[in-house]
Amino acid sequence: MTLREEIERRRTFAIISHPDAGKTTLTEKLLLFGGAIHVAGAVKSNKIKKGATSDFMEIERQRGISVATSVMGFEYGGCKINILDTPGHQDFAEDTYRTLTAVDSVIIVIDGAKGVETQTRKLMEVCRMRKTPVMVFINKLDRPCKDPFDLLDEVESELKIKVRPLAFPISDGPTFKGVYNLYENNLSLFTSDERQTASGHVEVTLNSPELDGYIRPFTTRLREDLDLVEGVYEPFEREAYLRGELAPVFFGSAINNFGVRELLECFIRIAPSPRPSRTEQREIDPYEEKMTGFIFKIHANMDPNHRDRIAFMKICSGRFERGRNYLHVPSGKSMKFSSPTAFMAEKKSVIDEAFPGDIVGLHDTGNFKIGDTFTEGEKLKFTGIPSFSPELFRYIENGDPQKFKQLAKGIDQLMDEGVAQLFTSKMNGRKIIGTVGALQFEVIQYRLEHEYNAICKWEPIQIYKACWIQSDNQAQLEDFRKRKYNSLALDKHGREVFLADTSYALAMAQEKFPDIRFYFTSEF
Ligand code: G4P
Repeated sequence: MTLREEIERRRTFAIISHPDAGKTTLTEKLLLFGGAIHVAGAVKSNKIKKGATSDFMEIERQRGISVATSVMGFEYGGCKINILDTPGHQDFAEDTYRTLTAVDSVIIVIDGAKGVETQTRKLMEVCRMRKTPVMVFINKLDRPCKDPFDLLDEVESELKIKVRPLAFPISDGPTFKGVYNLYENNLSLFTSDERQTASGHVEVTLNSPELDGYIRPFTTRLREDLDLVEGVYEPFEREAYLRGELAPVFFGSAINNFGVRELLECFIRIAPSPRPSRTEQREIDPYEEKMTGFIFKIHANMDPNHRDRIAFMKICSGRFERGRNYLHVPSGKSMKFSSPTAFMAEKKSVIDEAFPGDIVGLHDTGNFKIGDTFTEGEKLKFTGIPSFSPELFRYIENGDPQKFKQLAKGIDQLMDEGVAQLFTSKMNGRKIIGTVGALQFEVIQYRLEHEYNAICKWEPIQIYKACWIQSDNQAQLEDFRKRKYNSLALDKHGREVFLADTSYALAMAQEKFPDIRFYFTSEF
């Protein structure tokens, strides 16, 4: 197969949802279709069960599982599909944000009874920022759900994206009959016992006289609903979907494997193959001959005897080959990998080559950071892998004076992995850790102790938000620095950050210093 053919058949995406909407279940059904797994239950939910927020074993278990299911590849309909898993627990949202930088499209799962929930809203903001194409799967139609038109309106207004149903449900809950596929113009009938192979699929169109026999007493209602769909929604336009402006919507029930095939069939036809990526220097076309890629995730090894890590690299162009020398741009060193790995469902195996859209696992002894670029010699830096302004902050202090070095190394490496962000106060040089979830503080403390043999102590600090600052007005910037000296810090890369202690302080600063730009992501 040529490089072009390999790239065109790749579909790299993530499934995102609010916890419990059915992400794990849908992932598993997709893998069953792809033959990547053969029994239901093979994909473990990687979410931390409710109420387990301070159970370290649970955290560790979760981290162990998420390595295995970080990337799941399978073949379907001539396509090579790569699903990138995202942590279900909202305290790991930053991990999810970063994973979204490595995908070409996204499927959002929504619980039909609950509608759009908070976590979905936040994740959609990241997709919108990156103009990632999204498809929506409204799940759990076997349960009583909200009205489909209300759900469509809710997705449109809450997720701020135009929608276009490509399937439409026929009732819900105990009287759920199935969905009418507007994309293929046929009917999929629901029988709740079809656990693994969805087959209740009949070639009956809307105007067929047989329709009534299948979906009575909802025939008239379906015809009216579909009239309304055609009247209200514009025809599906793939270009608008690819621009991230229009989301096709499907309805189904993942646990019953219902509506999943329709979603997958449509997905392989319309979802994008790898697209160009931006670097600070130029745009990289996936079809370029030379290999480029970047690291979007680093995972520590769970085995205490093997402290090495796995770095996940997304290939952006060219052909990646095992044993070949590549330039690690940040260090300027040439490196080769003798056992790069790929992931097929729960199995990890050494590969000889990989193509744009693929994710390769690289063995890392602690040299790599999130965002690191690999090339065949060109000095490039990929953009679009931002850090997000954290929401929770604490001072980190050394709990054992003998272990100062271990602590410093541990903090350094954990920050490279993207577990949290480090800020150093300009005023007193104290180190502040910022995270998106409270759980991270426990994870950091635990890992420092178990992996680096270092003890840390936390001390409270009142910070509402950290924002990166920049200005062309030097006089105003100097004035700001003088007045806000106590609230300034440097991030890990030496960039200036304003640590606003309250929302009021931030609003006042923005008002008084109009020429200063306050950024809530590290990339601007
Ligand atoms: P998540 O990864 O998005 O957090 O969700 P997950 O797939 O784990 O699903 C959450 C719960 O919803 C699970 O039940 C799952 O069985 C159920 N579920 C998923 N899809 C459907 C569906 O189409 N219909 C119905 N009725 N339920 C569905 P659980 O009781 O939390 O877990 P389990 O004991 O069943 O594994």
